[in-house]
Amino acid sequence: MDPKVIEDARAAFPQGIPAITLGAVLHEGECHPEPLVTIPLSMMTRHGLIAGATGTGKTKTLQLVAEQLSAAGVPVFLADIKGDVSGIAVPGETGSRITQRATDTGYAWEAKGFPVEFLSLTGQHGAQLRATVSSFGPLLLSKVLGLNDTQTSVLTLVFKYCDDQKLLLLDFADLRAVLQYLSGPGADALKEYGGMSKATVGVLLREMVELESQGAEAFFGEPEFDLQDLLSVTSEGRGLVSVLELQDTQDKPALFSTFMMWMLARLYATLPEVGDLDKPKLVFFFDEAHLLFSNASKDFTEQVEQVVRLVRSKGVGVFFVTQSPKDVPPDVLGQLGNRVQHALRAFTPDDEKALRAAARTFPKTDHYDVQAILTSLGIGEALITTLTKRGTPTPPFATRLIPPAARMSPLDADELAARIAGSKQVRHYATDIDRESARELLLERAEEDARQAAAEAAKEPIGVPTRSGRSPKEPPSVAEQVFKSPLTRTILGTITRSLMGALVGAPRRRR
Ligand SMILES: Nc1ncnc2c1ncn2[C@@H]1O[C@H](COP(=O)(O)OP(=O)(O)OP(=O)(O)O)[C@@H](O)[C@H]1O
Ligand SMILES: [Mg+2]
Repeated sequence: MDPKVIEDARAAFPQGIPAITLGAVLHEGECHPEPLVTIPLSMMTRHGLIAGATGTGKTKTLQLVAEQLSAAGVPVFLADIKGDVSGIAVPGETGSRITQRATDTGYAWEAKGFPVEFLSLTGQHGAQLRATVSSFGPLLLSKVLGLNDTQTSVLTLVFKYCDDQKLLLLDFADLRAVLQYLSGPGADALKEYGGMSKATVGVLLREMVELESQGAEAFFGEPEFDLQDLLSVTSEGRGLVSVLELQDTQDKPALFSTFMMWMLARLYATLPEVGDLDKPKLVFFFDEAHLLFSNASKDFTEQVEQVVRLVRSKGVGVFFVTQSPKDVPPDVLGQLGNRVQHALRAFTPDDEKALRAAARTFPKTDHYDVQAILTSLGIGEALITTLTKRGTPTPPFATRLIPPAARMSPLDADELAARIAGSKQVRHYATDIDRESARELLLERAEEDARQAAAEAAKEPIGVPTRSGRSPKEPPSVAEQVFKSPLTRTILGTITRSLMGALVGAPRRRR
């Protein structure tokens, strides 16, 4: 290989600093095993992009980076949209292709599995992720529900009222009960807070139903997922790999973005400022990141941009994995310091445009014709520029990537089920708790009001009855109002259902 290429690579990737190994330099079809192309561990908080056409090796690159982070004691969070990274839990299988690649790249390959916990938004494929309505707070919840400013201010009032009245907002049933109460029997109580229109309540309730139709009901409630769990390191000093299995929620993007917004906001709020660290505290990988941003709300995109900009100083790195750099909003893209660009195809004029755009994002190099190399890279090869430990971008080098140490194929259904069954974390989050919160307290209040109203009614003189049994001028009694209120109807419906359940001996489900 041209000694000038090797010399420049040595200058770009000095050995002997803690780093993630990506692979060996490729030039004119030849692979040189020294020096290896790396990302300094301290630069993992400068974020990254792994891009390339379908089947070019993006997910395997994600896997090999995540594995080495874990080995270096850095916890990792993976959003596994297609269910193809669960194999990271078990050692890889040797084969001629792995051996060949290990020889080409001069990498001492060893099969290894990594400590993995599976997470799930449905509770089907891992620990059930949950968060309470109150931990969202009115502003984040408004973003999630897509509310305008007026609706947001009403929701803020409702939260304030609940705070003052010690009404806990845990799940959507609580929020719904409060909204129904405040727009009906409790309307007077809200007057001193500014009041709210029935139309606004209607919108809030509708947006909640919309989100629930995406499966949000399982997500809101207790026990809330403790984000500290994501920062675990095993007793042998390996970082936990938390794999969020999303294959069963692919068609529910709102559920995933609700979780993401909560997780990013909470992490940002709770992690201390640490400045630049020798190694990150946590690194996120979002595979199939185009799904994250396509059709995403402006609020969502802004939230991601903001977090990506600010989490570096909290010791968190974020890597996006997607086909084209164009899939990532420009403001986010500009923050991604480490770039692994797998092969791009140039079949159509649009492809050509994307290719030129991708090529322009690379620093200058005398060693490669960037556009030509981007279309000629093989599977598991990429054009790579990373940040040096001083934070400056290296020139781009075509690289043959090392094989992942863990299995490249996913766990089969039995293997996954066995791991989930054996997980303490899954068991810990498995049962939802329904402690006394707004819904139950309002139910008690409604019952008390109804009792008092009934007592009052019994004392009052009876007027001339009409066909409905009520004197013409007499307004509907408080008891009647209470019993006709949507809240009471829901409550009565629920009581009836629970009674029926108890009578027919159905297992006592929550609510
Ligand atoms: N570093 C590597 N070492 C060995 N084999 C690899 C490597 N990278 C990719 N491969 C091979 O390429 C195949 C496709 O890789 P991968 O699933 O990562 O592609 P992808 O770009 O994520 O595809 P998609 O766009 O469909 O998600 C793998 O199954 C594996 O056989
Ligand atoms: Mg993939």
